[in-house]
Amino acid sequence: QPLEEVVGSALAACRPVLQGRPVTVALADGLPLLSLDAVLFERVLVNLLENAARYTPAGSALAIRAEALDQTVRLVVDDQGPGLPPGREEALFEKFERGERESATPGVGLGLAISRAIVQAHGGTIHGANRLEGGRVAGARFTIELPRGTPPEDDGSAAAAADEDIR
Ligand SMILES: Nc1ncnc2c1ncn2[C@@H]1O[C@H](COP(=O)(O)OP(=O)(O)O)[C@@H](O)[C@H]1O
Ligand SMILES: [Mg+2]
Repeated sequence: QPLEEVVGSALAACRPVLQGRPVTVALADGLPLLSLDAVLFERVLVNLLENAARYTPAGSALAIRAEALDQTVRLVVDDQGPGLPPGREEALFEKFERGERESATPGVGLGLAISRAIVQAHGGTIHGANRLEGGRVAGARFTIELPRGTPPEDDGSAAAAADEDIR
């Protein structure tokens, strides 16, 4: 799957909740195709975008970036909200864990737990952190890394090898 398509469909699905927000998307050129379940992975991005829409001030900007590293493709979602409760960045990925100040906002605390389960099922990792600028929290950052996997070959040799296996 091209990452562009999954990011595009997640953004389209979130359009109603993201209204009025500037969203920057910067996907590096030549990202490798990824072996992923598009429906489930879209759910991961939708969870992150819905959280950003819910827990950051209306109209504040979001940024999505992706780049290829040696072994992985890294996808980063940044917001400009109040950030994650310090020291609880990992705990928020547990089922039913929510921030204190969120208790008044509807939600059950499952979004990040589900997101992590999906990313891990793809052999990847997901973490949350606060972005610091000048010693101050400038917003939350969620980072996903997915294994690059083996790109499909198109010279016919992969198909021939599969044929051999069957025989
Ligand atoms: N972008 C964000 N900015 C600030 N806090 C966040 C953000 N995303 C998630 N959180 C915190 O993580 C908690 C858990 O998120 P999640 O698992 O999606 O559950 P829910 O959204 O139902 O509370 C939220 O309640 C909130 O405290
Ligand atoms: Mg949520």
